[in-house]
Amino acid sequence: MNFFIDTANLDQIKEAQDLGILDGVTTNPSLMAKEGIKGAKNITQHYVDICNIVDGDVSAEVIATDYEGMISEGEELAALHPQIVVKVPCTKNGIKAVKYLSTKGIRTNCTLIFSVGQALLAAKAGATYVSPFVGRLDDICTDGIVLIRQIADMFNYYAFDTQVLAASVRHTMHIIQCVEAGAHVATCPLSAIVGLLNHPLTDKGLEQFLADYNKLNG
Ligand code: G3P
Repeated sequence: MNFFIDTANLDQIKEAQDLGILDGVTTNPSLMAKEGIKGAKNITQHYVDICNIVDGDVSAEVIATDYEGMISEGEELAALHPQIVVKVPCTKNGIKAVKYLSTKGIRTNCTLIFSVGQALLAAKAGATYVSPFVGRLDDICTDGIVLIRQIADMFNYYAFDTQVLAASVRHTMHIIQCVEAGAHVATCPLSAIVGLLNHPLTDKGLEQFLADYNKLNG
């Protein structure tokens, strides 16, 4: 399974990249706003900066909601850097835009997916990724991981090339559940990625190894 980091924070992106396990980055307008990135010029520069840190795909989201606006913004974003994947919301205009962009050879990430039906339409339109939001479904008492499994099964059954990019992943257990459900990618906060390392038996074992070494060599 591939790991993307879900942030626009350059320090966190660098930290994940330095770990050697990072496969890409996802952003959205809220994550960009969190970093205080505003104005078209600064926003596009920020996407390029992210692409220059990581080796993999970088999702950049369109702001337009009309079809013409989505495709022109999508083409501009895609032209910024070969690593850019254009993120488009799963609306009627969004599906049309995904179809247009994929026909033009531009890779897309269809976002704000909350149902199997939405994922089906996005895949049929040629989306490179679909982004079902796990945590936001959990927030309303609906099991987000079940949706990941349903979409992964559907893509396997019909041999769609579209990848399931589990989004709104909040913690380490979500990551493990995404693995079990067959997600191709999980995009996670840095805390959840690094959190996978935590195990008291690792800490205890290392402490014991070092103590035994130091008894003879210390
Ligand atoms: O990947 C989508 C993500 O940024 C949304 O996460 O925690 O706001 O639901 P969250």
